[in-house]
Amino acid sequence: MTTGIHEDSQSLNQRAQSILKANDKGEYTVPTHGLYPYQWNWDSVLAAWGFASFNVDRAWQELDSLFGGQWENGMVPHIIFHQPDESYFPGPAVWGADRSPATTGITQPPIAATFARKIYDEDRELGLSRAQALYTPLLRWHRWFMTYRVEENAIVITHPWESGRDNAVDWDLPARQVDVSQVGEYTRRDTAHVNSDMRPKKADYDRYIALVNLGRNTGWDEEKIREISPFRVADPGMTFILLRACRDLLWLSEELNHGESADKDEIEGWISTLEAGAQRLWNPAISAYDSLDIRTGNYAGSLSNASYLCWYAGIRSSTMLEHLNRVYQQLPYPVPSLDPGHPEFDPLRYWRGPVWPFFNALIGIGLEDIGHADEALHLKDATRKLITEEGFFEYCHPQSAQGAGGDNFTWTAAIWLSWIDRGMN
Ligand code: GLC
Repeated sequence: MTTGIHEDSQSLNQRAQSILKANDKGEYTVPTHGLYPYQWNWDSVLAAWGFASFNVDRAWQELDSLFGGQWENGMVPHIIFHQPDESYFPGPAVWGADRSPATTGITQPPIAATFARKIYDEDRELGLSRAQALYTPLLRWHRWFMTYRVEENAIVITHPWESGRDNAVDWDLPARQVDVSQVGEYTRRDTAHVNSDMRPKKADYDRYIALVNLGRNTGWDEEKIREISPFRVADPGMTFILLRACRDLLWLSEELNHGESADKDEIEGWISTLEAGAQRLWNPAISAYDSLDIRTGNYAGSLSNASYLCWYAGIRSSTMLEHLNRVYQQLPYPVPSLDPGHPEFDPLRYWRGPVWPFFNALIGIGLEDIGHADEALHLKDATRKLITEEGFFEYCHPQSAQGAGGDNFTWTAAIWLSWIDRGMN
């Protein structure tokens, strides 16, 4: 006889699979219909991981379509605009990136190598040629980061959207330096889909658009952007994620070449640089990993969910573990995107407080890999409870569990399938 819990989990598994299938556009998956009608970079990688639990071939196809948008300089864009869709702003014309397929001119966190490794591990026979085909594009993307985006050994973003944590408080002060006088009138589409209290404010949006205009006016020239943009912020999320991704890329490289990697020295050099960069992002004033404004040399003073990716990057920190256990005591549904003790903590506004289930998966993978089994289990259980109660929302209230943002969300369904339900870590 099956227990009620078991049945619940089976039906949630079915629902999660149905969400992935409903958001599947053939070769790529949208994050959710309406709000996000295109292929987003890190959403797509997580979709691939979710597919890997029931269709490994489709998982590889997802990664292939993402890398189909890679630029000649190695950058893999944050959105690929496969088919025009009026329901999203800013669309291809605003970005003016002039490529086929059309894309934005910025990137997103490089989780791809890490999840390519996991998908390869799911079925090595099927995955061998697929991983081989993806290896050089991954290497070129990492090299692009290390060429254009290293400051003080850490990884910088040139637009808040690159971090994937769009309106995090990390960007508040540096974004104030952005000149919005030429932005003019525009119509947001996001607030037609979601309550505006759960989305970034107009002042944030003006800065987002001004930074798109700045990049477009340089022809998306990284050297030029480095020279003229007031917005250049080292992000712990990007830095930890790339560090982890380099370790996984090195593993893949040796695995695919019978232990002999021609790229070993180069990748090991990147790993050492990023380890030093991670230490540079330790802000003693808040005893946590934090963002660093390269233009002013100031830390943001933000303990965010990205700060907790240290373990994902293979870095031990007992102080971060203390923060985590404190947050576990304070909130039934951790990990909040901003520390509850921060004056700007706002539990339903996007990256300023809510919990993001997919982000918990990244933190949980790190905790498990580094050996913090109790904390890893607590996080997985809390996230399981959250999704069981609320369903597959984009993000949720860390106290009440209330679902917010988009519903039937791809990455929430994906982590249910591969992290919570199957423990594919
Ligand atoms: C928002 C999120 C970003 C995500 C995108 C699509 O912009 O901040 O991380 O990739 O939506 O889901």
